[in-house]
Amino acid sequence: MKRPISISNIPNIEKDDIKLYLKLLFNFSLYKKGNFEEKLKNWFIDYFRVEFVFNFITGRLALFEILKSLNLNNEDEIILQAFTCSVVPEAIIAAKLKPVYVDIDKTFNIDVNNLKNKITKKTKVIIIQHTFGIPAEIEKIKEIAKKNNIIIIEDCAHNIGSKYKNKLLGTFSDIAFFSFGRSKAFSATNGGIIITNNKNLAKKLEIIEKSINYPSNSRIFKELLHPIIFYFLINPLYDFLNIGKLLLIILQKIKILTFEVSKKEKEGFFEFKNIYKMPNLFCFLALNQLSKIDKYNNRRKETVKKYLKNDKILQLSSLENFAQSDIEKYFNPLLRFPLLVKNSNELIKKRRKGKIYLGDWYSNVVDPKGVNLEKIYYQKGSCPNAEKISKQIVNLPTNPTLKDNEIEKIIKFVKINI
Ligand SMILES: Cc1ncc(COP(=O)(O)O)c(C=O)c1O
Repeated sequence: MKRPISISNIPNIEKDDIKLYLKLLFNFSLYKKGNFEEKLKNWFIDYFRVEFVFNFITGRLALFEILKSLNLNNEDEIILQAFTCSVVPEAIIAAKLKPVYVDIDKTFNIDVNNLKNKITKKTKVIIIQHTFGIPAEIEKIKEIAKKNNIIIIEDCAHNIGSKYKNKLLGTFSDIAFFSFGRSKAFSATNGGIIITNNKNLAKKLEIIEKSINYPSNSRIFKELLHPIIFYFLINPLYDFLNIGKLLLIILQKIKILTFEVSKKEKEGFFEFKNIYKMPNLFCFLALNQLSKIDKYNNRRKETVKKYLKNDKILQLSSLENFAQSDIEKYFNPLLRFPLLVKNSNELIKKRRKGKIYLGDWYSNVVDPKGVNLEKIYYQKGSCPNAEKISKQIVNLPTNPTLKDNEIEKIIKFVKINI
């Protein structure tokens, strides 16, 4: 049976990954402690040429622990961009700090002019999100931060290996974090890595990391099941009489498959029950994915290039009106390729008929749908550009597992339907 062209159903899991998942599923001795933790840390030390690396179960927990290590005062203000995932402000609130939202520019990142208006005496941190792996205006933001004595955290959850002016994202700031979540550019079902060269922060994070446990075997087992079930059951049956989709809903309802953002997180709360280290097994899976980093990132870059060569896509991405410096930001291994259309909802319905499942990150100003905006301190109307863009956004897949003919199909789909 044919697999759908899908942006989010285990986008970068290949046969070798699945073989590894199957091999490891009942290998409980490798689950928690083991030497893959150290190996993964060493991978980051080598790749980013940094001194210190820490691992946590998710990117959101990594952010929470970074914020805790900064010893800030309750209600100190942390600037983040709108057009993000709710788990980011939730980590800030869980650390007893206050999220302050900045509007976005045309590259879906922090709007530097708007940022200047949001800084107060209480601003202690700016979180720079490189949305989809498109670099933010990092140099300008750094200048502003330096002037105001503000710490910068880079949120590199969306990919590993994007560069700005030939320098890796994640190496511009005091501290940065990455994600190995299931829909990210490199997936180990879950995982959050922190890198820094700051000795003081590293000392505190070392203590925090040491105080944290691994998730239970049953939790690890469940997370491993997710890609296996997707690979063998849900993906092949996805479009066949809707069986795959139905199966997905049932398995989520009976809690065999987990949600990326839990019900509690959708209501605006941080999941304190999920404070864990990244177990040895997830580190093993992450390393298998990272062994393919050049192949994956080159493939993503090639796909982006193909999209940019198409007039219709170029027009819809508005890139033809961009300054050269902004266009260059797209020459990266993007996690998803963003387009703006008049009515993204309509296209979402059409894409289902076309058996091509595009993405909708972020179709809410703070995603996902149904997040309690009041709880996460977002004031409606405060970031108008982000609100407008969230109604128009559609993402084309850039998964490294996409075949050439599938990319052609996507381009044709955009030409006909948008
Ligand atoms: C921009 C951004 N930052 C951070 C995170 C958190 O990463 P994780 O899913 O590993 O907690 C996400 C995840 O959804 C994200 O989209």
